Amino acid sequence: MYEFTVSADSKAELYRDLHAALDALTEGEHDAIANMANAAALIAQYLPDLNWSGFYRMVAGELVVGPFLGKPACIRIAVGDGVCGAAAKTLETQLVEDVHAFPGHIACDAASRSELVVPIVHEDRLIGVLDLDSPSAARFDAQDAAGCEALMTLLAPRIAA
Ligand code: SME
Repeated sequence: MYEFTVSADSKAELYRDLHAALDALTEGEHDAIANMANAAALIAQYLPDLNWSGFYRMVAGELVVGPFLGKPACIRIAVGDGVCGAAAKTLETQLVEDVHAFPGHIACDAASRSELVVPIVHEDRLIGVLDLDSPSAARFDAQDAAGCEALMTLLAPRIAA
């Protein structure tokens, strides 16, 4: 059983502790599915107000759903489509305060109102994206984006195989 101490006092402390927990959870393990599954679960456990937490992987030029917690989701997303496809195309984090206002947003769960998608790059190669959905509008801010980018920088070499 894993037990982590993750502070909820401030976002800075939350992401600092989450980073340490993800490091401990994935250190020395090189199985990509195992590490993505535990990362999705860790994030879902400690980040409040999410209804979907997980990964899309780059497979033969398109995004394919990977380990996640949430409702069953669309399986394949073309680069450039939706929020995930925008992150894959631009290689930039997509912070969407209102998914209904995002052109081409792909609705996998009608409850989703805001979304954060972080591209995962290792050695100049796009491995996939982290996708977080929330039922609350404007759930994510720049601190969440930076915090999740740091988490994915840590995870990237551990899911690259
Ligand atoms: N909303 C995403 C699709 C994936 S689901 O949110 C899990 C998008 O527009 O890319």
